[in-house]
Amino acid sequence: MTPKQIELVQSTWAMVVPIVDTAADLFYGNLFEMDPTLRPIFPEDMTEQKKKLMAMLGTAVNGLNNLDSIIGAVKASGVRHVDYKVTASMYDTVGAALLKTLEQGLGDAWNDEVKEAWTVTYTTLASVMIGAADEHLKANA
Ligand code: HEM
Repeated sequence: MTPKQIELVQSTWAMVVPIVDTAADLFYGNLFEMDPTLRPIFPEDMTEQKKKLMAMLGTAVNGLNNLDSIIGAVKASGVRHVDYKVTASMYDTVGAALLKTLEQGLGDAWNDEVKEAWTVTYTTLASVMIGAADEHLKANA
């Protein structure tokens, strides 16, 4: 990731923070519209889940300048996602739902450069989570 991309992700995330509850509603609306079969793996009451996802995204975004500081937490989350019955292909759908949500939430601030910066951010997080999940599954095979 380039410093410019980090800056773009952090500055656009700062625009999402004031509307974080709306963004969370939009995100899960997009996700379950894109793939309704994902709904049953989440709790019926999504209130806590929405807060947790947004808090984790905030931590990750703020940690982009120092990836070493967040890598342990991201790996641990990837391993926990195995217990939630999350598989690698689901990460693509979640990534698409996240990008769509940012596009909706950011309005005029959304452009190709911002999209690329968020794509790199999400892909990096997802590959660390999937990698840790794979290692965990192999170690316990
Ligand atoms: C970068 C990607 C992701 C991030 C940052 C993220 C973040 C989180 C966080 C912070 C939690 C709270 C519990 C914990 O930390 O263990 C959580 C739980 C969960 N996530 Fe994710 N997640 C990601 C990808 C996914 C994907 C791809 C799926 C599949 C659809 C998914 C489904 C779930 C489910 C089902 C739970 C548990 C809900 C419950 O039973 O309470 N997540 N996620």
